[in-house]
Amino acid sequence: MTVLVTGGAGYIGSHTTYALLDRGDAVVVLDNLSTGMRAHVGERALFVEGEVSDHALVARLVSEHGIASVIHFAGSIVVPDSVKDPLGYYQNNVVASRALIEACIKAGVKEFIFSSTATVYAEDAPQPLAEGSPKAPISPYARSKLMTEWMLEDTSKAHDFRHIVLRYFNVCGADPQGRTGQVSPIPTHLIKRASLVALGRIPHLDIFGTDYPTPDGTGVRDYIHVTDLANAHLIALDALRSGAASTSYNIGYGRGLSVRQVVAAMGQVIGRPLPVKEGPRRPGDPPTLISNPAKIRAAGWTPHHDDIAEILRSALDWERRFNA
Ligand code: UD1
Repeated sequence: MTVLVTGGAGYIGSHTTYALLDRGDAVVVLDNLSTGMRAHVGERALFVEGEVSDHALVARLVSEHGIASVIHFAGSIVVPDSVKDPLGYYQNNVVASRALIEACIKAGVKEFIFSSTATVYAEDAPQPLAEGSPKAPISPYARSKLMTEWMLEDTSKAHDFRHIVLRYFNVCGADPQGRTGQVSPIPTHLIKRASLVALGRIPHLDIFGTDYPTPDGTGVRDYIHVTDLANAHLIALDALRSGAASTSYNIGYGRGLSVRQVVAAMGQVIGRPLPVKEGPRRPGDPPTLISNPAKIRAAGWTPHHDDIAEILRSALDWERRFNA
């Protein structure tokens, strides 16, 4: 039973591909390399360069490789870019996903896992967020994810097809074996930027907002190691394989860390204080995003890397290796 991983050359897709290969699953990766890197795809996967919206290609891959399940990562992910180019985001994330889902239905693929985001929830929803918490996405990126969730829900009702949606919180860190990690042309994520400051590649870290209604005034997030996130996909895949009904899961640790706590932890890891500059809030950033992971834990997910020092060390190791 081969798994088709779309976007398998990207950050989370390449980690999930390694998680699948490491336990012996056969994997076909479909990626257009618009942001992903061929070198980050595990050698034992079959790599195909192409578009997820290419019906004929998906049909051929399904029949040639006996694909029974699809894990769909491919898409655009930068929130501010989605505000500037909403139609591009709806094309890449909604229209392309629709084509892929249709190709799956026609080819007889019955199991589908979709990467979604914690930003589909309403900003004023009580924390921690459970799967049933109110949804009110603001950015075109988050809306495109929720639209695709809805397409999957409706498709699962109408066809012999089941899906699992995974809503990611703040994904960070890199493969402990150093095989893959995050690559961003213009890094915006806190831990990525903190790593670049720690390595002296940028002079200081901007702290975006110190007047949030949080214990130390800075934004609080549920930072989750990408390896634990990748393993959640294996749980979801096994659930679908054993006949589980369509559903959604939050993937986070259920604990929040503030920007200042992350900065202090990085200071401890590198043995000196991280240079920071306090500034105003970044537009659109909510004060707090914390997951309630009870549901995925009950499904058998046990995180192994819930340690901010370990996350930061893996991010730093990756930055050193990638730029070496
Ligand atoms: C990220 C993802 C989003 C995902 C969400 C899930 C992007 C751009 N964002 O958003 O897709 O759905 O996680 O929770 O892909 N901060 C600083 N200084 C910096 C960078 C960030 O103070 O240089 C602060 C931010 O204000 C925020 C926190 O750090 O409070 C985390 O920011 P970031 O790493 O950018 O992630 P999110 O914006 O939470």
